[in-house]
Amino acid sequence: MADTSKSRTRMAAVIGSPVAHSLSPAIMNAAFTAADLDWTFIAHEVAEGDTTRALDWARSEGLVGLSVTMPHKAAVAAAVNELGDVARRLNAVNCVVVDGQRLVGHNTDGGGFIDGLAHDAGFDPAGRTAVVLGAGGAARAVVHALAVAGASDVAVVNRTPGRAEVAAGLADGVGRVADTAAVAGADLVVNATPVGMGEGGSAMPVDPDLLNPGQVAVDLIYHPLATPWVVALRERGIEAHGGLSMLIFQAALAFTHWTGGEAPVAAMEQAARAELAARAAS
Ligand SMILES: NC(=O)c1ccc[n+]([C@@H]2O[C@H](COP(=O)([O-])OP(=O)(O)OC[C@H]3O[C@@H](n4cnc5c(N)ncnc54)[C@H](OP(=O)(O)O)[C@@H]3O)[C@@H](O)[C@H]2O)c1
Repeated sequence: MADTSKSRTRMAAVIGSPVAHSLSPAIMNAAFTAADLDWTFIAHEVAEGDTTRALDWARSEGLVGLSVTMPHKAAVAAAVNELGDVARRLNAVNCVVVDGQRLVGHNTDGGGFIDGLAHDAGFDPAGRTAVVLGAGGAARAVVHALAVAGASDVAVVNRTPGRAEVAAGLADGVGRVADTAAVAGADLVVNATPVGMGEGGSAMPVDPDLLNPGQVAVDLIYHPLATPWVVALRERGIEAHGGLSMLIFQAALAFTHWTGGEAPVAAMEQAARAELAARAAS
């Protein structure tokens, strides 16, 4: 582990397993550089079950903060000293602020989704209807955030109905479980399943012919940047976006938690795209 105790350079890290392919170091180091901060961001592999030890490491090393990815989001929520409202509701933390020995856990995934949606599509969920495909961690964050942002109806479609119920329950008063037929009438359709992830696939989370021009679709997957579903929707004249903006904007909210300042989003996006292009070329 890096010893930062004698250095003036401050450090932040992403913890997860596996974490080697995380884009967070590229995105966050670009942000620190653009903001003229003498801070550095590393990827720190932490095995499942070692969460508490990783949090102790963050305290003892005087880290600025942590990003948290799979499989630690729930374990960190259980172990920090304090939780923000969204993290408490989702029982999941993706961003920790280290304040001396005190750790405060936040969840910026849903907020990042809403900010990314505004950035990519100029879409404000207030008074609009949405369908979310999937009911895992990403889906739950999105369902909750859509309801907080004022969506009038949030329908959850998932292959395991019990998990759909749990996710829909996070959209107070406007959440419900639905089947794929709901996709046809929604203002916004979000894929929060991994179907379509990776190179060379052709799988789709839902038939693109169920959607029509005028609807907006977002696939949370960012590898590839445009999934087969996104490509098929665009071919049908439907506005469709990938998941890179959610990734950038959840990181931007973490940057603000750590620094108190506004994140240099353009530099962060440029770094993410450059890193993905470099990986694709290697
Ligand atoms: N852009 C971003 O910043 C961002 C952030 C987080 C996640 N993501 C992406 O979002 C996706 C979901 O991530 P997660 O963390 O929420 O995963 P997760 O917790 O494992 O949940 C996956 C969900 O997808 C469903 N699912 C999985 N395989 C399926 C299949 N073959 N057919 C139908 N449904 C299937 C699962 O259904 P069951 O409930 O029936 O198992 C579950 O509801 C991933 O592609 C991830 O890369 C993107």
